Amino acid sequence: MVGNPPVLMAPVVQCFHRSSKETLQMNALDLLKEDHQNVSELLDQIEQFDEIGQIKRLFRKIRQQLDTHAYIEETVFYLALKDKPPTQALISQSLDDHREMRVLLAGIAQTSDPVEVNEKLRALVEVIENHVKREERDLFPKVREVFTPEELDELGERLESARGSAPGLRAVA
Ligand SMILES: [Fe+2]
Repeated sequence: MVGNPPVLMAPVVQCFHRSSKETLQMNALDLLKEDHQNVSELLDQIEQFDEIGQIKRLFRKIRQQLDTHAYIEETVFYLALKDKPPTQALISQSLDDHREMRVLLAGIAQTSDPVEVNEKLRALVEVIENHVKREERDLFPKVREVFTPEELDELGERLESARGSAPGLRAVA
């Protein structure tokens, strides 16, 4: 007899219950910049590989991160900026980046031809570099003008929560 059954742990839920004193929480812009940085590092890494199996394995991770990033930007960040006119043209450019990125991701996933993978990866790197540059240099300063620091913190929390329901998390088998 072992007494009462143990209380079930729920680690996934627990990680969203951060105390307000903890400094883990990032504001929206820092969080998105960290995403950009992480994916840029993975893209640098994949460019060093020349074995197709290795490339495809790392590609799956990159795809997951990009799908998740695009999802949280589209469902939370860009939506929050919907009524902020100074950001609109930049957001529609970012949405174009996401469309282009998704076409390339799907194309890379569908082939194992090293030449084709290589070409599409190069195009992907270019799209992501431009996306990152445009958002960090042009969009984020405008976002800082239209939101208070508190609103940016709150937006950061919402972006973090949205990660949990991103389709990219299920896309990687
Ligand atoms: Fe972004």
